[in-house]
Amino acid sequence: MTLLAPHTNELRKLSELPTELALRRSAAFLARLVKDADFVESQILSLLEEARDREDWYVARRHDAKDGSYSLKVFVWPPGTGTNIHDHSSWGAYYCAAGTVLEERYERLDDGSRPDHASLKKVWQLSWSSEDGASTVLPGDGGIHRVGNPGESTALSVHLYGPRMAEVDGRDYDPSRDRICDRRED
Ligand SMILES: [Fe+2]
Repeated sequence: MTLLAPHTNELRKLSELPTELALRRSAAFLARLVKDADFVESQILSLLEEARDREDWYVARRHDAKDGSYSLKVFVWPPGTGTNIHDHSSWGAYYCAAGTVLEERYERLDDGSRPDHASLKKVWQLSWSSEDGASTVLPGDGGIHRVGNPGESTALSVHLYGPRMAEVDGRDYDPSRDRICDRRED
């Protein structure tokens, strides 16, 4: 993770900003990173090679603040892979660095008053490539989504998450049963 470590100071400052500003700065940071020639050569190209043997999506690189104030991760998405519907306990921004990822975004229809229950409505879906800028999520209900790669070539995305606002990393949703539960650590 040595290549991401030099960004420590910038990321710490960014993580202290109010959410809206932090997300704008995160988008700009990620845009610079995924177009940085050193980053592309040392990380992206080798990960695309490595991913040939992988069947499921995974976090290939990560750089976490010691105090939990931010987390920078590189996700690899082999063809046909994707997450469950989930949310996060922090704000987040991601930028597609290779290939294309498909994101589906959801909203809750219920008021959250019933434990373990969540009723969802899909509100949009968008394909993101390196020309499309950053997608951003707010903590909790403000960023319920599913991310994956329905295409035929491997995709890579770089994600930056802000300070965690809860002990769990986020929650998983099962819309077939209108259920919600805390997510296990990856
Ligand atoms: Fe997510």
